[in-house]
Amino acid sequence: MKIIHITDTHLSPSKPHFNGNWAPLVRWIAETGADLVVHTGDLSVDGADKDEDLSFCMELMREVSIPMLIVPGNHDVGHLPGSAQPVNPERLARWRAMVGPDYWAQDIGDWRIIGLNSLLMGFEDAEEQAQFEWLEKTLAERGTRRIAMFAHKPLFVDDANEGDTGYWSLRPSQRRHLYDLIEAHDVALFGSGHLHWSWKGAFGKTSLVWAPPTAFILDKMEREMPGERLVGAAVHELGDEVKTELVAVPGMTAYFLDDVVEEVYPQAAHKKQPEQAE
Ligand SMILES: [Fe+2]
Ligand SMILES: [Fe+2]
Repeated sequence: MKIIHITDTHLSPSKPHFNGNWAPLVRWIAETGADLVVHTGDLSVDGADKDEDLSFCMELMREVSIPMLIVPGNHDVGHLPGSAQPVNPERLARWRAMVGPDYWAQDIGDWRIIGLNSLLMGFEDAEEQAQFEWLEKTLAERGTRRIAMFAHKPLFVDDANEGDTGYWSLRPSQRRHLYDLIEAHDVALFGSGHLHWSWKGAFGKTSLVWAPPTAFILDKMEREMPGERLVGAAVHELGDEVKTELVAVPGMTAYFLDDVVEEVYPQAAHKKQPEQAE
């Protein structure tokens, strides 16, 4: 099975800075002959607050001719407690009404594809608990299927045992919970976005992939991270083993957020934690 993994499109009707990368990506996806497209979030510039951003994005998503599954990013449903736009019932309701479920599972052949709402993780509330209970049940009932899992935020940035990375990755206690489930249930792949860096690595037997973003890369405004600066997509071939290619898609422009951050994410231009833009 071939999956095209896209992420961080950051599309908007009012801030069109990155919209030009969508058409070449759609054209390229149509030619891949893939079975499925997975979008790991940050569809929008500001779907966390604007209906029109999410509706604009969903109109564009419908241009993709291959079936697509989508999980939310922080710019779609909000972020951690104490951030400028924390996840809350209103934001979750907007996503669920306009896009669909924020976490889901779909069986294709020998595989169970699972999408997680990583923005629920860190609240330690009923929503977070309900998702973990659903995930445990969904994994326990996988039968002989192998698992490919997708989320907006990565498990970690530099080291599997690192402490709290703040904005960037899952927090240590939720990360630990996922590690335990991943080790117990033959999870072959964990794919994510959010960092705007492209990277392939491993956690035990699990392939870890940060897909290339669609919208932009970062120059000097944030810290260096592992991997490479690339706009494009990841191609996952799920067979006896997982093979992933990170692709620079023809016709897409490697915009630097640094150049336009004042216009697109003014809060991030003037503050560090926790309003960063990625
Ligand atoms: Fe993000
Ligand atoms: Fe992003």
